[in-house]
Amino acid sequence: MGPFVNKLLLHPAAKALVFALCLLPFVWLVYQAAFDLLGANPQEALVRATGDWALRFLCLVLTVTPLRLLAKLPSLARYRRMLGLFMYFYALTHFMSYSGFDMGFDVADIVEDIIKRPFILVGSLAFLMTTLLAFTSFNAAVRALGAKRWQQLHRLVYGVAGLAVLHFFWMRAGKNDFAEVALYAAILAVLLGWRLRPLRATIQR
Ligand code: HEM
Repeated sequence: MGPFVNKLLLHPAAKALVFALCLLPFVWLVYQAAFDLLGANPQEALVRATGDWALRFLCLVLTVTPLRLLAKLPSLARYRRMLGLFMYFYALTHFMSYSGFDMGFDVADIVEDIIKRPFILVGSLAFLMTTLLAFTSFNAAVRALGAKRWQQLHRLVYGVAGLAVLHFFWMRAGKNDFAEVALYAAILAVLLGWRLRPLRATIQR
């Protein structure tokens, strides 16, 4: 099974197919917006849906390495950067929807909101870190920084995960609705916990 899936993932058309699949939520949102299918508050629905997709892609990108090693699928590595950039794409769409629909692209209002509302501040920090990761995700950046420093920098993704959950938690705290937050927090805890295995092994020795 493993070798077959590996081969499939290496197929020349596979990357284009995964790209199209990643774009599908965006296309679906545009379609819903165009045909007025987003409910009573379409602007809020767009801000929320793009935030959800950014978080989902964060979970997906963090799943690549454990799945690659556990299922012995080395060719999965080819998809990590694309998934990470899609996470950035949805985070950017989320930020732009908030800036446009909630704030009318008024920079002073946005800055004031970031200072005033802690959950917006936390989301902005996560977004800034994601921006740094996206802009240094290319081979030229790996060469410029050196593999070790690049790897250290890209550990920021764990900080992004923590801040994204905190952002979501804080936003839902006002509504006393934690079921989804707990689900994402559990998924991310498993994915990050898995990465701490070498540390645990050293402590136990
Ligand atoms: C990596 C960055 C970010 C992630 C992963 C993220 C994720 C999320 C998630 C999952 C939600 C909840 C959606 C739902 O209720 O279903 C949300 C809501 C929201 N986020 Fe973010 N977010 C990020 C950055 C930001 C930034 C930079 C801002 C604004 C400066 C922002 C503003 C908002 C707002 C206004 C809401 C909706 C609040 C409401 O409807 O009451 N987020 N975000």
